[in-house]
Amino acid sequence: MAIRKIVKIGDDTLRKVCRPVTQIDKRILTLLGDMAETMYAADGVGLAAPQVGILRRVVVIDVGEGLVELINPEIVATEGASVGPEGCLSVPGRRGLVERPTKVTVHALDRKGREIEVVGTGLMAVALCHEIDHLDGVIYVDKMIKDITDQEEEE
Ligand code: NI
Repeated sequence: MAIRKIVKIGDDTLRKVCRPVTQIDKRILTLLGDMAETMYAADGVGLAAPQVGILRRVVVIDVGEGLVELINPEIVATEGASVGPEGCLSVPGRRGLVERPTKVTVHALDRKGREIEVVGTGLMAVALCHEIDHLDGVIYVDKMIKDITDQEEEE
């Protein structure tokens, strides 16, 4: 595994629509491993492939409940709405308030190509929405209600 360079906002790569994975080959498995290592090294809770410059529908998330790897993830159901703080490894030094569903159901493939369903609530629901948005060229700042200042963060 290797730590990859994280693409920052302003780079066109983050604005492209990613292609689905058609074959889970060695390159995709290496990508998954590298993305997890990169996410942990950067102290993030999620990372999408375009953030390391790869325009494929691949996401890794760990909100403290263990690593979740998603290939070709799709949101199939949402419930509720809640406004909460969000940040992004591609948007350093900034956080903002975003409205997201409180519960999200996602269908995806795991690294063995098996169809899986992931149901996330709270932070996991936010992470699923945030990372899947990246696969369609959407960054949380596009949906942000307002910036959070350091002072507000401490309150
Ligand atoms: Ni992000």
